[in-house]
Amino acid sequence: MPTTVPAQMRALVLADFGNLLLEDRPTPVPAPGEVLVRIVATGICGSDLHGYTGENGRRQPGQVMGHETVGVVAALGDGATGHALGDVVVLNPNLACGTCARCLEGNAHICARRRVIGVDPAISSAFADYLAAPAANLVPFAGDVAVGALVEPLAVGYHAALRGGVDADSRVLVLGGGPIGQAVAIACRRLGAASVLVSEPHPARRTLVAQLGFAVVDPGTEDVHEAAGTIDVTIDAVGVSATLATALAATSAGGTVVLVGMGAPTVELPAYAISTAERTLVGAFCYAPAHFADTAAWAAGAVAELAPLISRTVGPEQAQAAFAGLADGSDSASKILVAFAPDLLN
Ligand SMILES: NC(=O)c1ccc[n+]([C@@H]2O[C@H](COP(=O)([O-])OP(=O)(O)OC[C@H]3O[C@@H](n4cnc5c(N)ncnc54)[C@H](O)[C@@H]3O)[C@@H](O)[C@H]2O)c1
Ligand SMILES: [Zn+2]
Ligand SMILES: [Zn+2]
Repeated sequence: MPTTVPAQMRALVLADFGNLLLEDRPTPVPAPGEVLVRIVATGICGSDLHGYTGENGRRQPGQVMGHETVGVVAALGDGATGHALGDVVVLNPNLACGTCARCLEGNAHICARRRVIGVDPAISSAFADYLAAPAANLVPFAGDVAVGALVEPLAVGYHAALRGGVDADSRVLVLGGGPIGQAVAIACRRLGAASVLVSEPHPARRTLVAQLGFAVVDPGTEDVHEAAGTIDVTIDAVGVSATLATALAATSAGGTVVLVGMGAPTVELPAYAISTAERTLVGAFCYAPAHFADTAAWAAGAVAELAPLISRTVGPEQAQAAFAGLADGSDSASKILVAFAPDLLN
């Protein structure tokens, strides 16, 4: 059972671009309808790294980042329902209005008034000992606690595969073998895809993807289109002009290309590859709330399959070094978790 909540907590503050400092901050107080979560571990996401370096302009000095997280319910705000003290929960970081047409149809992730925990500097976030979030954004997690920190990126992959209509007949090509490409490939296997091939230039990433049980191709030395054979759905988990061109060339006439990678804000597209072969190009962003909950339920029972996704776990004191190594490329780790309560990890 959780012990008394302290008034002050540790938080990893983005003091300046390239500099994370572990500071004392007031522990958030859950508002009505909110739950206070004792953070166990939070994954370092590519978007946190870009926030850390300052290159994506979506994080600001002074803020606390972190949105891929698992924790334990430590206190309940007035009227917060559906959770009990001590329950392990994972966080859907998308906060939406709940009343617009997108929210009401179950697509809160594309609500025009969406705000994101870990992105918005005004919101309590997950690289800290505690986080307060609406009860509805927390989903019970019954599996190995560390795997809970993977649910958020896994849900991105699952939603992208569903957006592509992947089913048991699908022959799928995934471009990019980073955490999102890995999540996409795992989701396609979960959906029973007939075949899944992952294209990834980085040798360490290819090794990991192969260890996860997928066929891999090196786009630097092989013709991806040729290696792939007939492809019904290509999921681009890189998102630059070159990968979209590969995706469109490799996908059969009438097939689907899903753009989930966000490697560039503007890309050039081979237009006739879309028009003349009636390929469908669809976007995928985050996950519908139902897809997040579905991923949490599935991941809880897939611990052995998912454990290799975690490269290593560090303490908050080592987070600055971990971010620096990932940002400058000297560390080839795929997913590093920052554990705020390592004693609660398993
Ligand atoms: N749409 C969403 O909701 C969403 C959510 C999370 C992340 N993203 C985006 O997805 C992308 C992937 O995220 P990630 O965390 O896996 O990033 P990552 O940088 O860790 O992985 C990208 C991988 O692509 C590989 N790559 C580079 N060029 C390639 C090429 N030509 N062909 C094949 N692979 C190539 C890299 O070696 C790397 O392993 C990023 O752009 C990220 O911003 C989107
Ligand atoms: Zn993320
Ligand atoms: Zn809305």
